[in-house]
Amino acid sequence: MKETDSTNRQAMMLEEALAVPGTLIVAGQQSQGRGRRGRTWESSPGTNLYMSLILKPDFSAEQAPMLTLLMAYSVAQALKECEQIEIQIKWPNDLLLNKKKICGILTEMSMDGSEIGRVVIGVGLNINEESFSEALSKIATSLKREVGREVEKAQILAEIMYKFEENYKEFCKAKDLSPIMDGYNQILVNKGKEVCILELGNEYHGIAHGINYKGELQVEKEDGTVESIFAGEVSVRGIYGYV
Ligand code: BTN
Repeated sequence: MKETDSTNRQAMMLEEALAVPGTLIVAGQQSQGRGRRGRTWESSPGTNLYMSLILKPDFSAEQAPMLTLLMAYSVAQALKECEQIEIQIKWPNDLLLNKKKICGILTEMSMDGSEIGRVVIGVGLNINEESFSEALSKIATSLKREVGREVEKAQILAEIMYKFEENYKEFCKAKDLSPIMDGYNQILVNKGKEVCILELGNEYHGIAHGINYKGELQVEKEDGTVESIFAGEVSVRGIYGYV
């Protein structure tokens, strides 16, 4: 569609009979693009990719957040394939190019009793955006800004879906992230770096050692013990400026 409020919202509201797993909603512009933690996602017309994929996976709700990491890795692979660029991932699912954010992913889920009803994986990828607000230009970038030319949106979209499908098949067999864990860790910007973990009422520092097969960030604390971080907020110091 040309314009919508939010592709994630549309994907969540799509009539049940139409919400076949694998359905993809793509818009040229969003008036109420949603970001993580209640933020908005600036979604200017025409230039960027705004899409939401509907899935109805046959596993428990606790496993669903792994799909976000799976999508992040698939987008990184697709950009490497199409543009020969090395993307880095900021755990769990921000994609960085030259230390600036180029893509964000927001996964939302509905429940049907105790089972997953629908999982919607929303991807916002800055493709041909030229101008960012002053505040945003310090922390965000687009493919066009980095490769220096207009980039074909449809080709990138097709490659993302191709990579995701391949990875999703492996994920469903393994029922965890072990098939992509090593590849993900190779491009993880946090790996070997000091991170600051902010949890409810708790803050500590440690060294991030990469994800395990469940997608949890392994953080070695100053006393040598290792914590597996799943839902905590992680910020990285001294690497780039947007945290
Ligand atoms: C983030 O905060 O990093 C996540 C941003 C996710 C934005 C995408 S754009 C397409 C989809 N529809 C939305 O409303 N949000 C996601």
